[in-house]
Amino acid sequence: MQTLHTIALTRPVFPDQITVLQAQCALIQGNIDEAYSEAGLIKLLQHADGAIISLREPITARLLDACPRLKVISNIAVGYNNIDIAACTARGVVVTNTPDVLTQTTADFAWALLMAAARRLPEAERYVRAGQWQHWSLQQLNGKDVYGATLGIVGMGRIGGAIAARAAGFGMHVVYHNRSASPEAGSATLCSLDALLAQADFVVLVVPYNASTHHLINAQRISHMKPDAVLINIARGGVVDDAALIAALRAGHLHSAGLDVFEGEPALNPDYLTLPNVVLTPHIASSSETTRRAMAQLAINNCLAVLAGKPALNRVN
Ligand code: 8YV
Repeated sequence: MQTLHTIALTRPVFPDQITVLQAQCALIQGNIDEAYSEAGLIKLLQHADGAIISLREPITARLLDACPRLKVISNIAVGYNNIDIAACTARGVVVTNTPDVLTQTTADFAWALLMAAARRLPEAERYVRAGQWQHWSLQQLNGKDVYGATLGIVGMGRIGGAIAARAAGFGMHVVYHNRSASPEAGSATLCSLDALLAQADFVVLVVPYNASTHHLINAQRISHMKPDAVLINIARGGVVDDAALIAALRAGHLHSAGLDVFEGEPALNPDYLTLPNVVLTPHIASSSETTRRAMAQLAINNCLAVLAGKPALNRVN
């Protein structure tokens, strides 16, 4: 008789996906709201052959040593900065991610944040809900024009390319910064980060998070941005130095910011909550039902493939 593999799910996937998984493996299920300590995560994963995890779970060398059965770590995300890849590779653990399925949805959301910040949408909504709308005025909630402006995209992977493609409809001039010229760039122009920051009216961050992108947007770089520029971050919180951004927003050096990700999330620097010119969302750029379902399914398929001795669909290491 074939022995069933054991798979640990740190967070629930969709209910029908759980039912299908339960028919194929022994399932260990974690909780949606658990802030796992390392010991708690080890407890959940130590008897598992495969783990399907979210970006909230750090996978360290110590955890891998305590969970020697693990053959595959399947991240339900395209980014994998939560995983010590070298430690996984050294122990023969396959790491997988979920690219492609989230590209368009995430690009849509970058635009939602950009438009919301430029046109002060959340502020306007708060104004109406608070009963402050008493009259019409020429200077009511004046925003910043998007049409015809310059868009700077930092990180030109698949999502960066999908964001750039949408800019054509807004008649924008698009520049980008990347380690090298990217096939995703379309008609966007490659330039240095400094040149991008100096000319972009809207700067969108879509870079992977690693040592070289930690606090990439710091006080010095922000000072090189155009006064009245808008900063959008859908990458990882650690790409931005929060204190520097807050100071710039407060000083009115930047028009506004739209942030979906935060260093230390779900906690965030409380000063953001005091600023009217920042749009804050809880890491939901990929969150349409269709896309989140597709991400979960891809992560499941990656995990099952590796446990069945087949190649992963999206192998990272
Ligand atoms: C998700 C993401 O919102 O895929 C990523 O790297 O940041 C987003 O798609 C999140 O990761 C869901 O776990």
